[in-house]
Amino acid sequence: MFAPVAEASGKRRIARSAAGPRIALRGVMSLRRLTQARLNQARGMKNANLLRWMRQVGLLLTMAMVSACGEEYLQSTIDPVTDYGEVSQSLYLQVFWWTMIVLAVVWAVMAYILVRFREKPGQERPKPVHGHMGLEIAWTIAPAIIVVAITIPTIKGVFKVQRPPEGDALVVEVTGKRYWWSFHIPELGVTTANELHLPVGRPVSLRLESGDVIHSFWVPRLGGKRDVNPVVTVREGGEEKRNWMHFTLREEGVFWGQCAEFCGEAHSLMGIRVVGESEEDFQAWVSDWQTTAPTANAPEDASEATTENPLVARGREVFFRESYCVLCHSIQGTVAPGTIGPNLTRVGGRSTIAAGMLENTPENLELWIRDPRSVKPGVQMPGAQYDVTYEGVTFPPTNLDDEQIRALAAYLSSMR
Ligand code: CUA
Repeated sequence: MFAPVAEASGKRRIARSAAGPRIALRGVMSLRRLTQARLNQARGMKNANLLRWMRQVGLLLTMAMVSACGEEYLQSTIDPVTDYGEVSQSLYLQVFWWTMIVLAVVWAVMAYILVRFREKPGQERPKPVHGHMGLEIAWTIAPAIIVVAITIPTIKGVFKVQRPPEGDALVVEVTGKRYWWSFHIPELGVTTANELHLPVGRPVSLRLESGDVIHSFWVPRLGGKRDVNPVVTVREGGEEKRNWMHFTLREEGVFWGQCAEFCGEAHSLMGIRVVGESEEDFQAWVSDWQTTAPTANAPEDASEATTENPLVARGREVFFRESYCVLCHSIQGTVAPGTIGPNLTRVGGRSTIAAGMLENTPENLELWIRDPRSVKPGVQMPGAQYDVTYEGVTFPPTNLDDEQIRALAAYLSSMR
């Protein structure tokens, strides 16, 4: 134990300090209290101060331990669920342990020096040492070895995660737009927005491109960030350049993500949800998407939807006949053809709306339709009272009243 040593020399130094007499006094007082505590303890007496001190230290340790575990971090970067994520995690751990080794060595040397070369009573000032060839060579070579030890697996890891998977990968075309995500799975004909379902165990290849400015696809538990750029061709007639991201999900769950490249005023409001599920559940989600939702039909086909809520029927009328929603949005199996905005097929089944910003409830849908700007500044969707200009075209205010908005929200919610 070095505590008594630190106390003894500490007391002398503090006493000598002229700069902060109050601090020195407080230090001496607390040291005296501590010393007293030890004396009392040695005599086998109870000491309230010591007990309080121990309680505080215990509390601190407990808090540190509690904060280190138990909590579920939705966007944790150190809790991977894919092979890609595991490569990053293994690199991270290697760097972490190297850091711990360096820390332990530095602290051990420091502790040794503090004890071994501490000031002794009546000692003369030691002569300063300048330069030590052996030490300097050692502390140049040791870090160099560590850097090489980190670099080799890093380069290997980079190539590993860039390699397209062998076998039958599920290709998903991801398009980042201000401020939402479009997901299209060509082999299944599925198009959805902001919430992507993926099967566990099958390799997935995301083909990333932007519809406007540069975004970045980042779902921390799946792997690293990947830039989502507008498509470029390096030379005329040349190959189109896109970024890809390859991974295989290892477990089920809902994994949160967000845009990670500044893309405008609502950059931070551009969320992603990836739902990892069994092959069976994934197939069910796909076939749901491919089958038109019972309440989705356009008014001319609505006779089939017999057991229906009148509000939903009213909302459908608003969607197809009293607004221009269909210019920008489409719904599978209906005449709504728009591709500018998010595809609304089975939108009622998504957990959130507005790219992860609002829980998907009829009330929030109403809010979103009436005043999207209040949820997401810079959104490229008109509100009931304001227009929006998208790529040079001005879309006027929707002028929907409360009754129409309530019905519209009911209609959208009904498609799950
Ligand atoms: Cu999209 Cu930031």
